[in-house]
Amino acid sequence: MTPHWQPLLTTDARPTRDPLSQPQGFCGRLSYFKRFKMEADLDRLPAPALPEGFYWVSWCPGLIEAHAELLYGCFQQEIDSWVFASLGDRDGCRRLMSDIARKSGFLPQATWLLACDSGLCGTVQGVRERNGVGAIQNLGILPGYRGRSLGAQLLLQAMHGFRQAGLRRTLLEVTAQNERAIRVYRRLGFRRIKTLYKAVAMPLA
Ligand SMILES: CC(C)(COP(=O)(O)OP(=O)(O)OC[C@H]1O[C@@H](n2cnc3c(N)ncnc32)[C@H](O)[C@@H]1OP(=O)(O)O)[C@@H](O)C(=O)NCCC(=O)NCCS
Repeated sequence: MTPHWQPLLTTDARPTRDPLSQPQGFCGRLSYFKRFKMEADLDRLPAPALPEGFYWVSWCPGLIEAHAELLYGCFQQEIDSWVFASLGDRDGCRRLMSDIARKSGFLPQATWLLACDSGLCGTVQGVRERNGVGAIQNLGILPGYRGRSLGAQLLLQAMHGFRQAGLRRTLLEVTAQNERAIRVYRRLGFRRIKTLYKAVAMPLA
């Protein structure tokens, strides 16, 4: 399927040993995606409010598989599954979720599933970085449940988790073309602090 988004720039790359400019030893086509680092204060957060019939599921290690399955359901066909190949692949989502849960800064208080009577419909994970800032890892709402403020409420729930863990600031990264996500983040007080460019090795056509 042809994606409806476009990378900022696509080049033919030469092999390099500089891992900052491109994947090591890579020779092929590289696409560059613009990403924003955004940050928000955790003071004076409104309380999360879910519509009737929706409820929170707090973290326990037995939920790794459920989080991974939701990551896959939320991110496949989305721009970030091109930027991060693991998000477009079921096994990749399992590995990613296990890696997040093993991080030393992993915060169960900021890691939630969203559920309703028909099943699970959203996921978010939070990690405390070494500088004491809470990093949102992946926020996802299944396609059939979007546009009802559930994404904003789930993010708010994770932000409260950071607050309960004693953190004062939170940050995340988002692909610049992900306008829907950026609207959610701005609404909850996130402001852009940095622009990054991520090189992605694309399969040659
Ligand atoms: C980002 C995501 C979590 C938002 O979930 P959601 O439940 O739809 O979010 P909300 O209903 O709280 O808010 C959606 C916002 O996007 C806006 N929106 C809806 N469709 C849109 C579109 N096609 N383009 C731009 N904005 C759009 C809505 O108007 C709303 O903004 P507003 O409240 O300012 O009007 C969800 O779209 C998702 O899972 N996307 C795929 C995974 C992803 O990209 N996650 C973010 C990674 S950084």
